[in-house]
Order: sequence, then structure tokens, then C-alpha cells
Amino acid sequence: MSIYGKYYNAMTGIMNNLVRTIEINSRKHEEKTGEKLYEHLRYRIKDEESMLEKLERNGLEPTTYHALRSLTDSIGIRVVCLFIDDVYKNVALIKSIPGCTVVKEKDYIKNAKPNGYRSYHMILDMETHFSDIDGNTPGHFFVEVQLRTIAMDTWAALEHELKYKRDIKNQELIVSELHRCANELASCDVSMQTLRRIIRG
Ligand code: GTP
Ligand code: MG
Repeated sequence: MSIYGKYYNAMTGIMNNLVRTIEINSRKHEEKTGEKLYEHLRYRIKDEESMLEKLERNGLEPTTYHALRSLTDSIGIRVVCLFIDDVYKNVALIKSIPGCTVVKEKDYIKNAKPNGYRSYHMILDMETHFSDIDGNTPGHFFVEVQLRTIAMDTWAALEHELKYKRDIKNQELIVSELHRCANELASCDVSMQTLRRIIRG
């Protein structure tokens, strides 16, 4: 039995339902405008090893309760968009999903992290027909949603890779160059957005 115990199936169901809703929203938008609302979606149930590592790092016992209640990213969905506008359109559509309440929200696009990281983060509390760990039906489950552009995603992937290589030479130079790249990519995102507006006329 995994750290998620008997809730694993419910978690998978909740994730798949949300993903399907985001896909349908995009398809409807495409029928109306000819434009997709995102480029691609990624989603996962946090694997056992990462969950145990994160619980330990946070000084929490390795229990299903802490995995589902003390941490909020056991279910994760990432929406990668072509343009910044589309990030905010997806945010609005996700907020309007029945049973969905935003319990935490961080706009790292308007306010980038000091290292240059950009993304829009939401922690959702999803009310579902599944029973939850508190014994409630309908039950409540947290879902972490990250929304970003392809440029932001490219940067985050590289930065993530470097973060785990602590023995790198020239750390300081790399950190400052990464920050510069983040700003250049952000400036490109704004230019591309403007280009799309011009093309649309
Ligand atoms: P954790 O970092 O997961 O403990 O949560 P938090 O409460 O600090 O939330 P935050 O919104 O800062 O980060 C949540 C997730 O966003 C992380 O687990 C990463 O997937 C992603 N993230 C946040 N900051 C960075 C960053 O600087 N670089 C990269 N590559 N990813 C980041
Ligand atoms: Mg963090």
C-alpha cells in the first residue's frame, strides 16, 4: 500500500477529471477562436519517494494524513501556454470549475521570485464525490496547479536541473546568468504577446 493508502484511486480520478475539464475548456476556446488555450499539460500524483522526502524535510511523520492534509501538492497539474494572456484565461476558467476553491494563490509572473522564476501557482481545494481522509463525503482534496508559458517552463526546467548539482564551479556567475536569461525570456514573452495582438488585427 502506498503512502496515499486507499485514497490513491480517488486522487487519480480527481486529477483526471480536472485535466479533462482543462482540455475541454481549451477545445471550446479553439472552436470559437481557432486558438488553443495551452500548448501542453503535465500532471502527476507525487511519487512515493518524493513525498516521503518532502514529509521528512518538513519534519512530518510519514502518514497518509500528512501527505494529504499537511502538504498540498500530492496532486499536481502544470498548464504550459503559448502566451501570457492564456495563463490568465486558464486561471479564470479553473476558478469557475464547480467544487473548486482557491486556498492559496501566488502570481510569480507579476512578481517573479528573486532568482527569476516565473509561474502562476494555485492550491485548489476540490470538493468531490469521493470520501476524504477526514471521513467526509463529499470529500476535499488539495491540488497544486502551476501555469506558465513555454519560455518560463524552459527556464524552470534548466534551473531545476542546476539546483541539484551543488558542486558546480562558478555558482555565482551561473546564478546571475540564469537570472539574466529569465529576464530576457520574460521580455520575449511580452513581445510575442504583442505580435499575436498585431497578427489578430
Ligand atoms: P514547495 O517549494 O513545494 O515546498 O512549496 P512552497 O510553499 O514554497 O510553494 P512555491 O509556490 O514556492 O513552490 C511550489 C512549486 O513550484 C515547487 O515545488 C516547484 O515545482 C515550483 N517552484 C517554485 N520555485 C521554483 C524555482 O525557483 N525554480 C523552479 N525550477 N521551480 C520552482
Ligand atoms: Mg518553494
